[in-house]
Amino acid sequence: MTDPGRTDQERFIFGLPKAELHLHIEGTLEPEMMFALAARNGVPLPYPDVEAVRAAYVFGDLQSFLDVYYAGCAVLVTEQDFYELTTAYLARAADQGVTHAEIFFDPQTHTDRGIPFRTVVNGICRALEDGERRLGVTWRLILCFLRDLGAEAAMATLERALPFRHLIAAVGLDSAELGHPPRAFEEVFRRARAEGLSCVAHAGEEGPPEYIWEALDLLHVHRIDHGVRCWEDQQLVDRLRDDHVPLTVCPFSNVKLGVFPDLAHHNLANLLRLGLRVTVNSDDPAYFGGYVGDNLVAAAEALALERDEIVQMARNSFVASFLDEADRHRRLAQLDRFARDG
Ligand code: ADE
Ligand code: ZN
Repeated sequence: MTDPGRTDQERFIFGLPKAELHLHIEGTLEPEMMFALAARNGVPLPYPDVEAVRAAYVFGDLQSFLDVYYAGCAVLVTEQDFYELTTAYLARAADQGVTHAEIFFDPQTHTDRGIPFRTVVNGICRALEDGERRLGVTWRLILCFLRDLGAEAAMATLERALPFRHLIAAVGLDSAELGHPPRAFEEVFRRARAEGLSCVAHAGEEGPPEYIWEALDLLHVHRIDHGVRCWEDQQLVDRLRDDHVPLTVCPFSNVKLGVFPDLAHHNLANLLRLGLRVTVNSDDPAYFGGYVGDNLVAAAEALALERDEIVQMARNSFVASFLDEADRHRRLAQLDRFARDG
């Protein structure tokens, strides 16, 4: 069926099967839901209405965004809140062609204000299981440590997560990057690997190329979240290319947080054309102006991406995922059929 509201390019990009690998579930909290949950839970908000919330979403850098993002999390209180948040994300993602989602959550943001770990993880996972049944979107869950709270708090969070180990595929590292290098978390990530967890880390978003080297060599990550500052270090670009290290790039996020002045100056196309395993993702779509299909459509237009480059990034998303081999090949065959037949 054709959708009169979408151009041919949008229809192709939205319809293209894809995995989303860099998505903070707390970053999918749309202002309308923020207000509904605030009213339900009796949580005061510093905004009079939804329009004022949207108007406040002007960020100069990562920290100015994180301040607003963590404040918004205060409305998430019950298991049902986490369930509804995740369900709403899955509906939007599925509409933009996401068939597999690897989702970050930030447990410390919630446990530090007295919300039990099980409330968070049970709400998210119940929605992911229902979403898989209803929409066919498969999933993995990634526990992110807040790097600015330090390694000791991260280790305590890992211990707290172990009773839920069967629900968690990997650990990650997020929050304020500058001044919080990956090397501080070597022991935590070693322990996570010993528990059989895979590893990813935000690095080279605002932080220097050195942080990407540390994530690779000390944390032994499977992919780098963002990683766009690798560009400043030719040896690092070579390493990422030669080792096929995936980068989960988030174009809207990078522009909103001032990493690039606009999409036309984003280095996504350059990285892709140098042979790096680039994927496109939405990061915190409620705050940055769009979901993964929206990011791909806008990046394709601003950077004049060819159709086979768009398909390559969708292929990369499955190749870089934590899907098992048989499933990965099934998804790639499905994607190739769509790319061929439209
Ligand atoms: N937490 C949520 N979004 C983030 C981002 N873009 N960088 C670091 N931490 C985050
Ligand atoms: Zn992120």
